[in-house]
Amino acid sequence: MDSIVVTGNGPLNGQIEIAGAKNACLTLMPATLLTEEPLTLTNAPRLSDIRTMTVLLQSLGAEVSALQDGKVLAMSSHDIHNHTAEYDIVRKMRASILVLGPMLARDGHAIVSLPGGCAIGARPVDLHLKALEALGAELELKDGYVHAKAPGGRLVGGTIDFPFVSVGATENALLAAVLAKGTTVINNAAREPEIVDLVECLRKMGAQIEGEGRSTITVQGVDRLNGATHPVVADRIELGTYMLAPAICGGEVELLGGSMDLIGAFVEKLEATGVSVEATPNGVLVSRKNGRVQAVDVTTEPFPGFPTDLQAQMMALLCTAEGTSVLEEKIFENRFMHAPELMRMGAQIDVSGGTAKVTGVEKLKGAPVMATDLRASVSLILAGLAAEGETRVSRVYHLDRGYEKVVRKLSGVGAQIERVKEG
Ligand code: EPZ
Repeated sequence: MDSIVVTGNGPLNGQIEIAGAKNACLTLMPATLLTEEPLTLTNAPRLSDIRTMTVLLQSLGAEVSALQDGKVLAMSSHDIHNHTAEYDIVRKMRASILVLGPMLARDGHAIVSLPGGCAIGARPVDLHLKALEALGAELELKDGYVHAKAPGGRLVGGTIDFPFVSVGATENALLAAVLAKGTTVINNAAREPEIVDLVECLRKMGAQIEGEGRSTITVQGVDRLNGATHPVVADRIELGTYMLAPAICGGEVELLGGSMDLIGAFVEKLEATGVSVEATPNGVLVSRKNGRVQAVDVTTEPFPGFPTDLQAQMMALLCTAEGTSVLEEKIFENRFMHAPELMRMGAQIDVSGGTAKVTGVEKLKGAPVMATDLRASVSLILAGLAAEGETRVSRVYHLDRGYEKVVRKLSGVGAQIERVKEG
């Protein structure tokens, strides 16, 4: 397993290119199952999760070719000969559950392994299943698999009332409803930019959808969908992550290809710490003069609130803020695993349930730390950028799931960082 070694090296200056969004690409890819015509995604990120989704779609019979060094995914599903998503692929990546809705919509039957939990929480899929039942699906859970059938071979439009916001369940509902017979109304739908991106792609394919980005989405089912070419939206979580690098180290960095409206609440919080953020023609410019940032309180919420996927990274900044910050994690039940690792670096964090109280210290000290999940791993790297001495982050395979070329992007703005092979 590789490690990443970071040594605190003063302010950062330069530009970082933001890639396409992992969480948009993972819901756009299964849309290939909805048509026999080619669906091509451009601006795709080069990540292990994308490769996992590729293997899953290929196991069903879809053709997926990664062109231009993986930036273009040319897909076509004219011959889906297998309707079972196997456990050994699904267990690696929860987003695999997103093939359930489109397979059911396309051929009226599917068998998909339940994904199981992950480090940050149990992460059940009950809302996904309830949504599909609202569209007429008959589901049976057997041996860890969901066996799904649409009576008469076709789903029927219906009303889906989500008791709370779920990004994935909203995506599965959309991927199913577009080919259902009749109208579907999704209430309490997720409003994330990745949902908007999925709808824009489905609309290019001929789907009739209204309301994306708001809490109620209406879908008029159609009989068939065409192929399309669609650019994956910029990754707002990668954007926010790298905005924190100059915030933590000082200096001035321009993030190319990202836009602030994708992370409104995060920008407000970052500015409240005293960091300056401004839109430029090519992206976002973040700068911090010398002096410490100020403590702020953060509560994670569904979009447009503060993204849970930036909570760990924000904590890394607040570890050296002036004052005490309170972070409330409201989306997942176990998403503070980066806290004990940051404490090994001298951070003062008191975690109790879904609340973490961070008392800022002048400087962190480099130390060997362990990545536990995707966003925790990058939070430790960010902390190491400004810590005194060397920080060695092990188990960086977590990082490869969601961040492409981290070492190159950060060393390009002056960070002292390298990837080392270990064991
Ligand atoms: C998506 O996960 C993202 N993943 C997550 O990003 C992100 O943290 C999350 O949305 C919230 O924004 C992808 O898009 C691939 P949810 P998802 O359904 O869809 C509970 C990352 O780091 N829930 O919005 O799984 C669930 O346990 C990843 O890139 C149910 O109880 O999230 C959680 O507590 C991490 N039943 C809450 O709802 C369900 O059927 C929100 O989950 C579904 C979810």
